[in-house]
Amino acid sequence: MTTLEDYLEKNADRIDRVIHRYFGDVHGDLFRASAHLLLAGGKRLRPAVVILAADAVRKGSSDDLIPAALALELTHNFTLIHDDIMDGDVARRGVPTVHTVWDEPTAILAGDVLYAKAFEFICLSEASEAARIRAVQMLARTCTDICDGQSMDMAFEKRDDVLEVEYLEMVSKKTGVLYGASAAIGGILAGASPVQADALYQFGVNSGIAFQIQDDLIDLLASSETSGKDRASDIREGKQTLIAIRAREKGIDLAPYRRPLTGAEIDDLIAQLQDAGIVEEVRAVAVERARVAKQALSVLPDSEEKRLLGEIADFFVARGN
Ligand code: IPE
Ligand code: IPE
Ligand code: MG
Ligand code: MG
Ligand code: MG
Repeated sequence: MTTLEDYLEKNADRIDRVIHRYFGDVHGDLFRASAHLLLAGGKRLRPAVVILAADAVRKGSSDDLIPAALALELTHNFTLIHDDIMDGDVARRGVPTVHTVWDEPTAILAGDVLYAKAFEFICLSEASEAARIRAVQMLARTCTDICDGQSMDMAFEKRDDVLEVEYLEMVSKKTGVLYGASAAIGGILAGASPVQADALYQFGVNSGIAFQIQDDLIDLLASSETSGKDRASDIREGKQTLIAIRAREKGIDLAPYRRPLTGAEIDDLIAQLQDAGIVEEVRAVAVERARVAKQALSVLPDSEEKRLLGEIADFFVARGN
C-alpha cells in the first residue's frame, strides 16, 4: 500500500521533470522570470489532485493527462506571482519573489505568460474533444473566480466588519476553486459522469477551503525557513482571515500589528491568540471542511486513488508548510 507521502514525492518528481523539460532552459528576461518560481520547487499538490482524480475515475488514465496536470500547476504559479505583488511579499518557496528579483511590470507579464501557457498545455491532453472543451471552459471560469476572490481579499483589508460567510466565499474563490477544477478536470478528461465530475469539484473546493485556512495558520505560526514565505504577512497587511475575524469577536485588536513585526512581537501575538483558544477553533473549522470534502468522494468506486484523495484532504489541514 502506497503512503500519501511516497505518492506525493513521486508525483512531484514526475511534474518537476516535465517542468524542467519545458522551462529549464529558457532565454530572455521575461521567460526567465516566468520560470523562476516554477523551478524553485513547490509541493505540486494541484497536479497530484488532477492525476489522482483521473485515476480514481479510470485507472491508468492519468498517463495521457500530464499536460493537464502541468496546466493546473502553471495556473497556480501565475496566481502566486501576481499574489506576491498584491501582498507585498519578498519570499516564496525559499527564494526571492519574481517582482523583487526583476520588477513589477516584468512580474505581471511573467504571470501572464504562465496563464497563457496553462491553456496551451491543457489542450494537449489526450482525451475526447468534448472533454477537452469542458476542461478548458472550467479552467477559464476558475481563473475568473480566482480574480474575484483576490479582489475580495484586498477589498476586505479596508474593512473591520468582515463576516465569516464572506471570508468563506473569498477563500472558496481565491483558493478552493483551483482545487475544485484540479479534481474535476482530472475526472472529466478521464471520462467521469456528470455526477462524478460534480462530486470531484465539491471535494476540491471544500478541501481547498480547508487548505487556505491551514495556510492562514501557517502564515502566523511557521518560521520563514519552514514556510519559505514572509512570516505573518497576513497580519502585517491587515488580511481578514478567519484568525483575524475570531480575534475581533473576542476583543483582540490586530490593528496595531499592521506593520512590519519583529519575531518577538509575532510570538507575543501568537500567545494571546492561543490563550483565547483562537488557533484551536480555526483549526477545527479546517478539519470540519476536510471532512465535508471527503464525504463528496462517496460516489466514486473504491480504489487506491480514492483513498489517497481522502488522505490528501487530511494532509491539507495537518501540513506544516
Ligand atoms: C500557496 O499554495 C498559495 C495558496 C493558495 C495558499 P501552496 O502552499 O500549494 O504553494 P506551493 O505550490 O507548495 O509553493
Ligand atoms: C493566495 O492566498 C491565494 C492565491 C495565490 C490565489 P495567500 O496570499 O494567503 O497565499 P500565500 O500565503 O501568499 O501563498
Ligand atoms: Mg500571498
Ligand atoms: Mg494573497
Ligand atoms: Mg497565505
